[in-house]
Amino acid sequence: MKELQDYRTADYEIDPIYLKRWSPRSFLEKDVPEQVLYSLFEAARWAPSAANVQPWRFVVARTVVDRERFLTFINDGNKAWCRKAPVLVAVISKAVEERFGGKNPSHAFDTGTAWGFLALEAARKGLVTHAMGGFNRQEAKKLLQIPEGFDVQAIVAIGYQGDKAELNETLQEREIPSNRHRVEDFTFEGLFPNE
Ligand SMILES: Cc1cc2nc3c(=O)[nH]c(=O)nc-3n(C[C@H](O)[C@H](O)[C@H](O)COP(=O)(O)O)c2cc1C
Repeated sequence: MKELQDYRTADYEIDPIYLKRWSPRSFLEKDVPEQVLYSLFEAARWAPSAANVQPWRFVVARTVVDRERFLTFINDGNKAWCRKAPVLVAVISKAVEERFGGKNPSHAFDTGTAWGFLALEAARKGLVTHAMGGFNRQEAKKLLQIPEGFDVQAIVAIGYQGDKAELNETLQEREIPSNRHRVEDFTFEGLFPNE
């Protein structure tokens, strides 16, 4: 059987957690204990943000009723696998900030950092996370009663990794940790290169 390191290796020394975190689509139908789940939001809590305004918000769905509501605005392609996830979370950012006199230019950037922290803490605890952009944003805002001035950035499925044999054939083929560009392909000294 192939191991994680057959798919992913780092060229520079890093903590193994960065390679361990990936986004499977197979989920066990097993609940996440509340203390474990909330420790992921605790990790998100400590993300840095411009002027420490902490623009992230999370709406959690873990009851049948709440998860069914989420499934109504998630695209069919994602619904095919994420309906088994015990927890679905809407990652929301506060785009308008009174302290900035209007739009917070880094609301999405800072909320992305918080989601990154959450995902790494989940991996550290043996959970898996899978973010989705494939959902209807208008419907999500309406059904989750999200007011003006907030954006829904992503829906994240959280749970324990399941058996890939339970996925359909197409999804089984995609159920492997992906690789990345080399550091030198996206990191430049001094000036942006001519592309
Ligand atoms: C904002 C965002 C939106 C994404 N949207 C989807 C999606 O709609 N469906 C899906 O299956 N995966 C989605 N993904 C997962 C990415 O495809 C995945 O993170 C990427 O291929 C890297 O793989 P890894 O997370 O396993 O390392 C999304 C990820 C992010 C961060």
